[in-house]
Amino acid sequence: MATESTTELARADKERPEAGVAKGKDTLSITDNRTGRTYEVPVTDDTIRATDLRQIKVADDDFGMMTYDPAFMNTAACRSAITFIDGDRGILRYRGYPIEQLAERASFLEVAYLLGEGELPDGQQLTTWEETIKYHTYVHTNITRFLEGFRYNAHPMGMLLGVVGALSTFYPDAKNILDPASRYLQRVRLLAKTPTIAAFAFRHSRGLPFVFPDNDLDYIGNFVNMTFSIGGRHKPNKVLQRALEILLILHADHEQNCSTSAVRAVGSSQVDPFSAVSAGIAALYGPLHGGANEAVLQMLDEIGSKEDVPKFIADVKAGHGRLMGFGHRVYKSYDPRAKLIKKVADDVFEQTGLNPKLEIALELERIALEDEYFIKRKLYPNVDFYSGLIYQAMGYPTEYFTVLFALGRMPGWLAQWEEMLLDKDQKIARPRQIYSGAGKRDFVPIEQR
Ligand code: ACO
Repeated sequence: MATESTTELARADKERPEAGVAKGKDTLSITDNRTGRTYEVPVTDDTIRATDLRQIKVADDDFGMMTYDPAFMNTAACRSAITFIDGDRGILRYRGYPIEQLAERASFLEVAYLLGEGELPDGQQLTTWEETIKYHTYVHTNITRFLEGFRYNAHPMGMLLGVVGALSTFYPDAKNILDPASRYLQRVRLLAKTPTIAAFAFRHSRGLPFVFPDNDLDYIGNFVNMTFSIGGRHKPNKVLQRALEILLILHADHEQNCSTSAVRAVGSSQVDPFSAVSAGIAALYGPLHGGANEAVLQMLDEIGSKEDVPKFIADVKAGHGRLMGFGHRVYKSYDPRAKLIKKVADDVFEQTGLNPKLEIALELERIALEDEYFIKRKLYPNVDFYSGLIYQAMGYPTEYFTVLFALGRMPGWLAQWEEMLLDKDQKIARPRQIYSGAGKRDFVPIEQR
């Protein structure tokens, strides 16, 4: 299995033409103009180690030089062999396999296996994996009581993050994070039980009784049945189920995004994976991350009609709000997932009839892609621009979209969590700061303030 970091792959990717630069020494010389001293630090994968800068000091008792990188704009926090992204060329691969091929040919559980184990399963491995997941789909009935305790209008992401976190209290063995067998079991439990919890949250919001897992159904079929079945009358639509499966595959991992970084950071304290993953769910909840698909639909509702799109774009350019579902920290060209999602949308709308908001979305995309403001900033539709329209056509309410994203992202969080634990370079995540507060001062009694 490849062990290069994404950064390295991004730069040394075989398809890239040779840069034609003469090969020198793999070091970087740094001259500190404050002292006139020069330092030489090793360069590996086009990267220097931030801790190598600590030797750069003005005085012996200096702490040493740090890097300042709010929001980790240019800092590799790990080596990872899981997902490769080339944001400039719109490339996404899981364990080397192009997302386009996986979306077309793999099942979600096959992708989950690939992300976690590093290789695609053979027939026997896949059968065992699917059976193992099925075996763990039930949740303790006390979980249903938690869900009943939520208000009728509780946001399903709030319910999901609370209940997934609470799973740690049901499985105290999950604390054995250094035991490979225990880690495997917890990964299976999270993949198996999250759809059950997600479906229960959906039913709770509607005041419907919970439908328990049916192990005769496959992963997606079972989830859809637990969500929509009323009196056993739900008629499965294979096209919609495959469309949902593709959407989950497209969301399965995306290297060091906000929620994955949250899982890694929290997991680095060696807490159990249920707690670490619930931190990922919390991060995903935010409107700048997974919550964007929900925000896109709200935006389309606000715009109202195709004719009002130019005014909305003008408002965004004037600094009033953002075009939700546009822009990405890494992709500075078309998000490859957004391309695939447009195709899924065609298949879904053929079954469900056109979502009337699609017209507004297409007009937004058309105008934005021709507009200097968006071109200059390299803002293209991201994965969330069209996914909400599809989820809505499938019958999911807006506030449920991010839950579907969380189901998809689960294998990625788990693979990244385990990779972090096995990485000898990793320790508890603990960034530094530049202190900008008051200097030392003495306490002032309240009557003198
Ligand atoms: N609409 C309008 N302008 C935008 C948008 C947008 N969606 N995104 C970025 N910009 C502008 C910014 O105002 C800024 O302009 P300026 O240079 O004149 O100040 C410039 O583009 C760069 O934006 P940043 O915020 O610095 O870019 P960053 O990489 O930090 O943000 C993000 C990326 C958060 C995704 C941003 O593009 C955004 O808010 N998009 C809308 C929310 C969204 O769709 N999120 C989903 C992301 S995909 C995912 O998480 C699954």
